[in-house]
Amino acid sequence: MKTPADVIRSEIEQRGVMPFARFMELALYAPDCGYYEAKKENVGRRGDFYTSVSVGNLFGELLAFQFVEWLEELRGAENGLRIIEAGAHDGKLAADILAWIQLNRPKIYEQLEYIIVEPSVRRQEWQRELLKNFTPRVRWLSRFNEPAIQRFNGIVFSNELLDAFPIHRFGWDAAGKKWFEWGVAPDGEKFRWARLPNPVQDSQFTFRPPPELLAVLPDGYTVEISPAAENWWREAAGVLENGKLLTMDYGIATDEMFSPARPRGTLRAYFRHHASDDVLANAGEQDLTAHVNFPAIRKAGEDAGLITEHFYPQSKFLTEILARAAKSNSFGRWDSSDTRQFQTLTHPEHLGRAFRVLVQSR
Ligand SMILES: C[S@@+](CC[C@H](N)C(=O)[O-])C[C@H]1O[C@@H](n2cnc3c(N)ncnc32)[C@H](O)[C@@H]1O
Repeated sequence: MKTPADVIRSEIEQRGVMPFARFMELALYAPDCGYYEAKKENVGRRGDFYTSVSVGNLFGELLAFQFVEWLEELRGAENGLRIIEAGAHDGKLAADILAWIQLNRPKIYEQLEYIIVEPSVRRQEWQRELLKNFTPRVRWLSRFNEPAIQRFNGIVFSNELLDAFPIHRFGWDAAGKKWFEWGVAPDGEKFRWARLPNPVQDSQFTFRPPPELLAVLPDGYTVEISPAAENWWREAAGVLENGKLLTMDYGIATDEMFSPARPRGTLRAYFRHHASDDVLANAGEQDLTAHVNFPAIRKAGEDAGLITEHFYPQSKFLTEILARAAKSNSFGRWDSSDTRQFQTLTHPEHLGRAFRVLVQSR
């Protein structure tokens, strides 16, 4: 069977040195063999990394409480009871959200339409299997621009989706005072970094580093840009007539963009819970991920007419939901496992500080 490395090698043979973004796309999503295509158990203890979803059911339950509050505000709007998730992976987060709504808000559940936007046929199969008890409420689309959801009212959300989109890596050439793009070339059985010959256009940057910063930027300083993530956000904003668009992920805010602590960017590989800088090794076996550039995502939404409601740490988002849930006395059961999960989700050294939540609305 073909491996992502075979696919990458044959494309480089045909077209020459490959931009890293294409390497990442093939390593993660090459049909049948990419990391997210061939492996189902990438997330959680038996996988390569944890997410808020793998901590337990509580994350989805708190989101469900928040989503129902928002849906109730939207109730007047036609077709207001829609939730759209992307990056649903095995469907676990959808299952946690739907189970909570079914148990605690049965009337809303009966009217709810939960749509999963999932381009991969294989992942759709995994999700259909896990969500079979919720079948009448769930529907799948392979992309946003299918006619079925042209402009709608409701909530569009994702957890740890944007960090999984391919990134371009640009390096600073201090002597030549210009940016170059990092590409990938074969190196025997492996791959190595190679500079792409084409000049980097200003239009490829969503931000303009000031000249005084460029004057002191060390040679090889690397920044990452993900047009795929920005385009995805723009498309999601485009289908939202009335409602919320939100994402939860780890990422950087403006003031951290040129941190001296990250001269080589934020790109990392994860394999069995170990982070590594050797991102060109074992294509398709390890996860590849980079911090989300939140200012660029936020701008893409605002340019599409959305209003930014919140951009804050996950701990604040979840703590505020829990405070309202406690006050309403309608959250349902709560036991010591929920307390433990809540601590993990909000503790600054676990998922509370590094993870941020961006909420935009129209
Ligand atoms: C890091 S996993 C997150 C899984 C899950 N949301 C969680 O929090 O546990 C990222 C998922 O996004 C999926 N993905 C990548 N590109 C996508 C796209 N354009 N639309 C929907 N899902 C996508 C990947 O296949 C993978 O399943």
